[in-house]
Amino acid sequence: MWRKWGTMLGQILLLLMSGGVTAKTCGVISIDSHTIQLGSPLSASCAVGKQFCPDVNQDVQVIWKLDRVFIPSKDYSDVQQNGSSIYFRSFNKTSAALSCYFKMDQGLQLMDRVEINAGYPPPKPTNLTCQLNVTDGRLVCSWQLGSDPLIKTNATLSIARTNEYCEPFVGENYHCVPQPGETSCTITRHQYHLYKKHAVWITVQNELGSANSSYLCLTPMNQVKLDPPVIKEAAPVLSRPQCVRILVKKSETGSYIDQWYQLRYRKVEESQWTETHPMTEDYEVLEYCNLFPTTRYHFQIRCIRRYLEGYWSEWGSDTTLLTAESAPTGKVKTWWRSLEAKSDGPTKIQLLWKALKKEEANSENPWYIVGIRLDTDWNGNVVCNTTALNCSFHLPNGATGAFLWVYNTVGHSPRMEIDFTNRRIPGKPVSWIHVFPNTDHSLAVKWKLQAMAKSYVLEWRKSSQHPESDFNWKTETEGSSMSILQDIEPFQQYTVWVYPVYENQVGSPVQVNAYSRQGAPEFAPKLTVLDVAKSAAYLSWESIPLEKRHGFITNYTIFWTDSNRQTLSATLNSSLTRFVIKNLQPLAMYTVQISCSTAEGSVNGSVLMINTTLLDEMEIHILILVLCLLFATLIGSLFFCLGKQERVKNTFWPIVPDPANSSMGKWSPVLNESPKMSFNIKEINQMITSDLTILERWPEKKPPTTDSTKCTPVSMKHKPHCRNEDTEEHRPYINVADTVQYAKVITGGYLGQSPTSTSHLRSNSTQPLLSDTSPSPQTYENMWFHSNTQEDSIFLVEDENLSNFPLLQALKIQEDGEIFSFYD
Ligand SMILES: *[C@@H]1O[C@H](CO)[C@@H](O)[C@H](O)[C@H]1NC(C)=O
Ligand SMILES: *[C@@H]1O[C@H](CO)[C@@H](O)[C@H](O)[C@H]1NC(C)=O
Ligand SMILES: *[C@@H]1O[C@H](CO)[C@@H](O)[C@H](O)[C@H]1NC(C)=O
Ligand SMILES: *[C@@H]1O[C@H](CO)[C@@H](O)[C@H](O)[C@H]1NC(C)=O
Ligand SMILES: *[C@@H]1O[C@H](CO)[C@@H](O)[C@H](O)[C@H]1NC(C)=O
Ligand SMILES: *[C@@H]1O[C@H](CO)[C@@H](O)[C@H](O)[C@H]1NC(C)=O
Ligand SMILES: *[C@@H]1O[C@H](CO)[C@@H](O)[C@H](O)[C@H]1NC(C)=O
Ligand SMILES: *[C@@H]1O[C@H](CO)[C@@H](O)[C@H](O)[C@H]1NC(C)=O
Ligand SMILES: *[C@@H]1O[C@H](CO)[C@@H](O)[C@H](O)[C@H]1NC(C)=O
Ligand SMILES: *[C@@H]1O[C@H](CO)[C@@H](O)[C@H](O)[C@H]1NC(C)=O
Repeated sequence: MWRKWGTMLGQILLLLMSGGVTAKTCGVISIDSHTIQLGSPLSASCAVGKQFCPDVNQDVQVIWKLDRVFIPSKDYSDVQQNGSSIYFRSFNKTSAALSCYFKMDQGLQLMDRVEINAGYPPPKPTNLTCQLNVTDGRLVCSWQLGSDPLIKTNATLSIARTNEYCEPFVGENYHCVPQPGETSCTITRHQYHLYKKHAVWITVQNELGSANSSYLCLTPMNQVKLDPPVIKEAAPVLSRPQCVRILVKKSETGSYIDQWYQLRYRKVEESQWTETHPMTEDYEVLEYCNLFPTTRYHFQIRCIRRYLEGYWSEWGSDTTLLTAESAPTGKVKTWWRSLEAKSDGPTKIQLLWKALKKEEANSENPWYIVGIRLDTDWNGNVVCNTTALNCSFHLPNGATGAFLWVYNTVGHSPRMEIDFTNRRIPGKPVSWIHVFPNTDHSLAVKWKLQAMAKSYVLEWRKSSQHPESDFNWKTETEGSSMSILQDIEPFQQYTVWVYPVYENQVGSPVQVNAYSRQGAPEFAPKLTVLDVAKSAAYLSWESIPLEKRHGFITNYTIFWTDSNRQTLSATLNSSLTRFVIKNLQPLAMYTVQISCSTAEGSVNGSVLMINTTLLDEMEIHILILVLCLLFATLIGSLFFCLGKQERVKNTFWPIVPDPANSSMGKWSPVLNESPKMSFNIKEINQMITSDLTILERWPEKKPPTTDSTKCTPVSMKHKPHCRNEDTEEHRPYINVADTVQYAKVITGGYLGQSPTSTSHLRSNSTQPLLSDTSPSPQTYENMWFHSNTQEDSIFLVEDENLSNFPLLQALKIQEDGEIFSFYD
């Protein structure tokens, strides 16, 4: 029992301790070499020392392990009863631990373990170079090792004086051993002679072999790498704007050495350096030309021992310098637009131009001078002296053009002429243009090449911007048929114009609207219910402001849903702003909604409720008249009715509309005046107190492109009704949702005998349209007074053909001046 425990303890200890040193007494691995070439064969054997391990019984079994993997027993043999050997045909691990175990009753016991490393002999070192630092006198040699030998490899640098054929003198070697892993070594000043020939070579060595580099034959002084020179001063050459002059100072320690220099430079905005040829004279002042005027450059200088003996120094510190200005060259691109004009041409002009490129302006801040060209005077009349890129001026009589100069501190550009007569007779426009998205922030414009065009001008601006506001423009050269417009806002409509520019003429512009990206509209238009009748609802809306459309409106869809949740819809052309829903049920409730679409999506408006009426307004009118006549007949006061009919006839008879047969667009609203209520006060000697329906004004906004005068054919009998929307006020009456607003009629004849004036005020009360079944005002054209309370009934109706209303027709009591009277 104790022994068992002891063995186990021993085993644990053995397993914990690496190397199996303690087990060597019992068993030992013998191996030819611990370092071998990778892929070469390897054999090892493990012998059991029974004399030291009396406890090990005769038939001990040996087990092998490479790192943590047991090697299958078929791969090794029991040489004798006291040992085992193993053979690897091609050992391919760079480093591994080989272990030998005894199998015993209690388990495995580690006997021995060896580390094996595999690699290659060192390859021949290459690229041996040496550099001399004259400041500290150190000769630093460096080299490259080839492929990694994978095992520990050391290097030795040797330097030896040689004869003139570079054969080393025996016995004068000096050795330098680099730090492990390093591939350079420093030979100190007393190991070499500055001006004598030496051979230098590297020997690399490891357990598998060694290799020598080839000899490097050198004179240390010819290997010098100097410290860079400094630029003491740099200045433009004012008389020659493309030249600079640079004052150089050698580094202190190499100052006794004759040196050549090399200059490199770059524009501050560029990263690529331009190297000049080495300057083969050891002058303190370098001059270099070939630069652009008025350009800021970086300069750096490096040096080398004369005749290029040695190495270039590092580049020295950086100096920046602005070269001198020279007079502007190049031609400014110009364009102009007329701000004010008379029939014979523009009277106020905005001249625009593009900044010259820096290398043409030759100045960081050029001035532009604009003068007006008069036939007599070519140089006077300067209208602008500016650094801006445009100039607006009045054009005096007789002036036909302008000139433009670019100035800087040194001089001015040639004069550019601008002709304002070249648009009097517009030239041919381009035959087509196509504008389409390039990216979300740019538009591509393509047009048909015009044979004679010398250039093209593109103008563009947001379509929602005021025409007077600034616009963008660019020119494209002859032969181009495509341009990219940058800085475009997505979801905004842009208008693009393309002008071909001919020799002495500018072509008429062609204009296209485009989006770089479209989206769904920001919101749908607000739907207004103009009127609701028995079976129809009259809707109107205003188009959405251009900035909110986010795309071309392709169509509107009107949805209407009845109380059974049945939805019908109509899709309308985007040019429409009114719609009549027909075939509605009387006395029913509907919800109505508008949806507005672009190619990229649609948006729904809010939901409106409408209630259809029981009767059409004409039916109500007729009913009232019939009731009135009946009532009048009944009480024998025919006189009363007739008197009133005459009123009605005079004021309203001929203009009874037929809503079933008309569209809202044809209805000419009541003009800007109070409803006329001319009646004989003798007949109504009582105070007029009834409510009067006043419907909301329908705000007419013209779409920006339409003419401000609209001609509305009203009926066959009447001249087309023309109105100027800016000056005339229209007062149509509109039911809002399911309530109408009421106003009180106040007459000046409240106490007197005749109503000298009438006016209406909007009352704050609203009343549900259908809740009151009494013949109170229910429709927008109808003003009603209860006759049975001595109030009068009056129709305010519009001009419309009556032929569709036979009953009314029959009641018509005046025709062509002839009076049919109930009196007779
Ligand atoms: C192994 O046994 C052989 C003969 O049986 C003997 O000659 C040899 O010395 C033994 N080796 C060891 C290491 O005990
Ligand atoms: C190494 O040799 C073993 C046995 O010959 C083989 O199974 C293994 O794939 C080899 N590994 C490599 C990396 O060549
Ligand atoms: C370099 O390595 C070889 C073989 O490993 C060894 O014999 C020699 O002493 C080493 N030389 C130096 C300088 O370490
Ligand atoms: C390397 O050079 C030394 C000295 O010249 C020489 O003794 C040695 O044999 C050379 N070794 C090889 C591998 O050429
Ligand atoms: C030369 O040595 C000095 C001192 O160590 C050092 O400052 C300088 O950078 C070195 N010059 C070159 C070219 O390496
Ligand atoms: C333009 O204005 C600048 C700055 O005021 C002035 O120095 C320059 O002389 C003017 N040039 C002309 C031609 O008027
Ligand atoms: C004209 O110049 C002014 C001042 O630089 C500038 O604000 C404006 O945008 C310019 N107008 C055009 C159309 O370039
Ligand atoms: C919309 O109406 C306008 C004017 O009537 C017409 O030119 C256009 O082609 C119509 N658009 C569609 C999509 O029907
Ligand atoms: C309405 O516009 C949308 C989006 O462009 C389109 O998909 C749809 O077909 C149009 N509907 C009709 C009836 O034209
Ligand atoms: C707009 O409303 C209609 C009818 O209610 C519905 O079919 C449609 O999906 C809605 N569209 C959006 C974009 O909400």
